[in-house]
Amino acid sequence: MRSKHGRHVPMWELIERTCRKDDPCNKNFSSFFGYLFERGDDTQFSEDQLIAIAQGMIDRPAKDTPDLPTPIGFAIFGQFIDHDITLDVITKLGEAFNDVEQLENIRTPRLELDSIYLAGKEASPFLYEKDSDKMIIGTSDNLLDVQRNREGTAIIGDHRNDENLFISQMQSLFIRFHNWVVDRGHNFEEAQEFVRHTYQQIIVEEFLPEIISDDVLGPLMEGFENGKLPSEYINWSKVAHMPVEFSAAAYRFGHSHVRQNYQVNDSLSGNLFDFGGFEAVPIGKNVDWKFFFDLDGKSFLKCRPIDTKLASALFDLPFAEVGLKNLAKRNLVRGQLTFGLLSGEEVARRIGIKPLPKHHVIKKLGLKQTPLWFYILAEAERNGGKLGKVGGTIVGGTLLQLLLQDKNAYINKNPDFNPFDLIPKTKSIIAGVAKAVTDYPA
Ligand code: HEM
Repeated sequence: MRSKHGRHVPMWELIERTCRKDDPCNKNFSSFFGYLFERGDDTQFSEDQLIAIAQGMIDRPAKDTPDLPTPIGFAIFGQFIDHDITLDVITKLGEAFNDVEQLENIRTPRLELDSIYLAGKEASPFLYEKDSDKMIIGTSDNLLDVQRNREGTAIIGDHRNDENLFISQMQSLFIRFHNWVVDRGHNFEEAQEFVRHTYQQIIVEEFLPEIISDDVLGPLMEGFENGKLPSEYINWSKVAHMPVEFSAAAYRFGHSHVRQNYQVNDSLSGNLFDFGGFEAVPIGKNVDWKFFFDLDGKSFLKCRPIDTKLASALFDLPFAEVGLKNLAKRNLVRGQLTFGLLSGEEVARRIGIKPLPKHHVIKKLGLKQTPLWFYILAEAERNGGKLGKVGGTIVGGTLLQLLLQDKNAYINKNPDFNPFDLIPKTKSIIAGVAKAVTDYPA
């Protein structure tokens, strides 16, 4: 393997690079992308074909009534997870990038919230209060906003966590959760570990069962609990390099989960991008989490089913330049033209199952194969709106493997970890976190 400068770099050295001063070294991660499956089908799509698929994906329902039982907060939480583990700022849309193992992942592929803590107190002091174990939160106008510079730009661990109101408020929620734990008598390291382990348990016990059907998640969970995922068809150690099958296709299932209409709080509602993004949040826009998670058994709105449609707002991204506003097109082009992902049919064969019959959109366009992202959505469409075998295996397997290979993850360090030892008893862990931190520190 060669570095950007042409030097031969042994695998252990690539992996060493993610070790941080304040974080006991984990040698099981790389800060580069990679492939889960060996290359080797001749899948080719033209940009026109991908655009034609994307055009058919816009959701224009007569009324916005998503039918998954999943609270909409889990879609926001899903985006929050993405921003913790994967960020490619190098590849250009539509230009092939052949050497994926030399492509830097700006986030550590560890579920340890570097999007909140960045490189820790010493290397990222602008996120931390001096002489205290707490993180900096809020502006002079709104204690529940994230901290901002005088231009209103958020000073946080990952800039994407300010892209829309909801993800920005979730960033604030987790920072305040850290401070809330400190207020209960814990030092910085203890609070950080408590927050990380709570977050990881939400992923395993609440998020994955919401998005992956039981028959697919069951065997993965059994493997997880025994310390090794089923490996008949997939070499999970490749997850050390964030797999592009996950980042550029499977995990983008979430773009279909996101709904068009939201209730922000008792007096504010509207569409996804009606509330701004990348700007200061006034008090009147603070979200009331009861509309996002099951806090009172009735108020929460629900996720769109995972299917081959996306909320229409995602076809006109307000923060993107002309030519980059259509998220469905970006996903398809990034996956197939930039990374040359295997088709969905080929991935199905690689994991030992029979590919699904072609979706009518693919048939109508006369395509022999299906782009991986679209295949995974079509699979979920036939599976009651949850990820099926191909999508669920890549998404569930990758997230669970990231935890298994992290010696600091709760599953390795403290498998009996119970967040309810501290947070209020509620129906779910995430609701407990939201309840604990609502109005804190106001
Ligand atoms: C308001 C909702 C969201 C918006 C506006 C949004 C927007 C975007 C944009 C613009 C990109 C870059 C696309 C490209 O050029 O390749 C992206 C990437 C991505 N999104 Fe989303 N997204 C949203 C929600 C989600 C959710 C809910 C998930 C998953 C549950 C998700 C997963 C991803 C992943 C994995 C990437 C690739 C990140 C990387 O490796 O750089 N997104 N998203």
